[in-house]
Amino acid sequence: MQDDAAILVEDLHKSFGDVQALNGVDLRVGRGTVLGVLGPNGAGKTTVVRILTTLLNPDRGRALVEGRDVVREAATVREIIGLAGQSTAIQEELTGRENLEIVGRLYHLDKPAARRRASQLLDQFELSTASDRPAKTYSGGMLRRLDLAASLVAKPAVLFLDEPTTGLDPRSRIGMWEIIRTLVAEGTTLFLTTQYLDEADELADEIVVIDHGKVIASGTAETLKDRVGGNVVEFVLPDRSRLADAAGAVAALADAEPSTEPDTGRVAVRVGSRGSDALVQAVRNLDSAGIEVDGLALRRPSLDDVFMALTGHAAETEEPVGGKRGRKRRGRAAQPAEQAPTQGGPR
Ligand SMILES: Nc1ncnc2c1ncn2[C@@H]1O[C@H](COP(=O)(O)OP(=O)(O)OP(=O)(O)O)[C@@H](O)[C@H]1O
Ligand SMILES: [Mg+2]
Repeated sequence: MQDDAAILVEDLHKSFGDVQALNGVDLRVGRGTVLGVLGPNGAGKTTVVRILTTLLNPDRGRALVEGRDVVREAATVREIIGLAGQSTAIQEELTGRENLEIVGRLYHLDKPAARRRASQLLDQFELSTASDRPAKTYSGGMLRRLDLAASLVAKPAVLFLDEPTTGLDPRSRIGMWEIIRTLVAEGTTLFLTTQYLDEADELADEIVVIDHGKVIASGTAETLKDRVGGNVVEFVLPDRSRLADAAGAVAALADAEPSTEPDTGRVAVRVGSRGSDALVQAVRNLDSAGIEVDGLALRRPSLDDVFMALTGHAAETEEPVGGKRGRKRRGRAAQPAEQAPTQGGPR
């Protein structure tokens, strides 16, 4: 394994009783890059994160972070990683500043150094004005930023973010993306799990899709999109009775049959790597057949299409704010196993 990977995972297996959470996961994350890990609820994302962050031992297989074995060299691994988990490790009775200072002390910074680092991070995450209020008065977005700040106290080389924007409103999500981009520009390797395909599209260099404890696809967002059959020419017929005629008129654009939706009048043709020339030909064919259409467009497949094609179900579409996931996270916060090693330490 003489490889410059920041994270290397081989044949990882983990069961909880009858539940096989991981069933042979392999992956590699290049140093200074972002791996986006996508998967539906229960796919095994958090289990991978917990193994890589030394919170859980695998049943089989192995994992290296910066060349260190997460089981045999767990203490060393803890020193080089940061984790902001799905449940926050913030102590809500304490102020934002106190939370960060305590983490600094756990990392053996002396008092003035811990204080300096806390101030720096509070500044960077725009929490300075709220820094001396108990964290329980913070909004969800502020708590998440504080949690991320806590994971960065020790300037980790490898950062694990388990669904960092689930439950945030759209503005806070974009703010979080900006912060994440800055960290990555500074050279941090990032392992990012997410339910949001646009997030993976925005932030990840490489993506793996996990389902039922296995990696079912990997590649860049672009290569994954190509895998589902390339571009699509789409339009809607105001006159639904002409659906079959329309499908016939555009059939020559592609090898596969056009798909039609009688309910909506929508027709879609996969045209592979063809672009505007396919669109022009569609217009001509429809026009000469005397068929009127609305909203004729060329569409790149989205990661949603990829996810659908690979897993057979749509990605999570829970609302970012106040949805059930937000409540679920609160419920889970009580589990000590979810504590971040960066913030756990001896209490
Ligand atoms: N401590 C545990 N005890 C029993 N089962 C567990 C435990 N942790 C995870 N599991 C099970 O393992 C499977 C994978 O869970 P995991 O939390 O890794 O999924 P996930 O992809 O992170 O899901 P989500 O998107 O909901 O966070 C699930 O079926 C889950 O119920
Ligand atoms: Mg999870």
